[in-house]
Amino acid sequence: MTKQKINKLSGTLRIVGDKSISHRVLIFSSISTGKSEIMNLLESEDVISTINILKNLGIKIEKKKEKWIVYGNGTNGYIQPKKALNANNSGTSARLLIAAVSSNPIYCTFIGDTSLSRRPMSRITDYLEKSGANITLTNNDFLPLTILGTSNSLPLSHKISKPSAQVKSGLIFSALQTNGTTIIYEKRKTRNHSELLLNYLKIPHRISKYSGEGQKIQISGPLEIKPKNYTVGGDPSSAAFFIVAGLITKGSKIALTDVLMNETRTLYISILKKMGGKIKIRKTKIRSGEQLGTIEVTSSSLKGILIPAKIAPYLIDEYPILAIAASCAKGTTTMRGLDELRFKESDRIKSIQSNLKRCEVDCKVLQNNIIIKGSKNIKGSKKLIKTYDDHRIAMSFYILGLVSKLPIKIDNEDCIKISYPNFKKNLEKLSIK
Ligand code: S3P
Repeated sequence: MTKQKINKLSGTLRIVGDKSISHRVLIFSSISTGKSEIMNLLESEDVISTINILKNLGIKIEKKKEKWIVYGNGTNGYIQPKKALNANNSGTSARLLIAAVSSNPIYCTFIGDTSLSRRPMSRITDYLEKSGANITLTNNDFLPLTILGTSNSLPLSHKISKPSAQVKSGLIFSALQTNGTTIIYEKRKTRNHSELLLNYLKIPHRISKYSGEGQKIQISGPLEIKPKNYTVGGDPSSAAFFIVAGLITKGSKIALTDVLMNETRTLYISILKKMGGKIKIRKTKIRSGEQLGTIEVTSSSLKGILIPAKIAPYLIDEYPILAIAASCAKGTTTMRGLDELRFKESDRIKSIQSNLKRCEVDCKVLQNNIIIKGSKNIKGSKKLIKTYDDHRIAMSFYILGLVSKLPIKIDNEDCIKISYPNFKKNLEKLSIK
């Protein structure tokens, strides 16, 4: 990938469907009793992995024009797959679906690509084993794994030790198919799309406060879920690449429409505003229980700030692109408490630091904190950016390439398809050369 000859951005773009919600509406539809239609589903490799696994579990899924149609088998309706279920690169597919099958009496093998096979699975399987699923992991923590689910899954109280929306959502899918009351405790709230979908689908459940900033979710299953149609809002984590591109390129002014305005996902916008970013938000409509809006971005002079550890779970997918914003800001940005970044599609602390160094940006790592001294003059690199096949690293450094003196070349642009197949086309759409 060579240096992009884009000087500034202008115009309006409708952002692709949200990845987290796309996985969830497919799984909710698969355990509903009948036909659901989904509009604006993200058609990326990760979401296709969820579709293929569900098909292997006996769920009919087809695409008709713009709509995806899922014919749900009801709760406890998955059937014994004939082959291994491949989550490829997708942690969300693996963790949510391992949990969803755990309360079905079927035997499944889950596999993934090299990156996913390095990511911990015991964070979800520990809870499922307590409820009665029989699971064998590779080296006690990794894929490939086999799971023998049970129709007598125990309704337990689960206290989630590390904040994780994937673990919480997995436990919700399991609880919906378990006989009795499951209680899920979260110390700190994480992205809440599954809870909003429980509301949208009118599935009985109770949510109350727990331990200051946490919550307690109670579900008494098994429940019959009536199918509904969905429209997936635009992915704020994908919008983040264009927002930062608009901020750091001189003379830019763009608008991004139909973006999800869910507060558990948009904290990075407040961070960019705090850095001096000129960003305006207009709430527009509600779709499938989620608020959508338009984001207007004008190029800005950014300044470095401190991003405290406490808010890390709300920024987890945006640190790579925030690191690019920090590289172009005046002064120092310190990002604290990034331990979970080590367990993403790549070790993102390492992939951010090593690639910024390649571009001669002053970036230090102290334990799990990243410290970046920004500059107006981004040099770029004669060496290839190493993505470690991580889509968000690839897109982030592509954006840095818009302002660097030397071309920024990326070793594998194919991995962008994991979350955003049309990323380059969409950027082209907004660009003035
Ligand atoms: C996701 C949750 C987050 C996030 C991931 C998608 C989800 O992971 O990083 O990209 O859809 O639930 P954790 O729940 O592990 O923090």
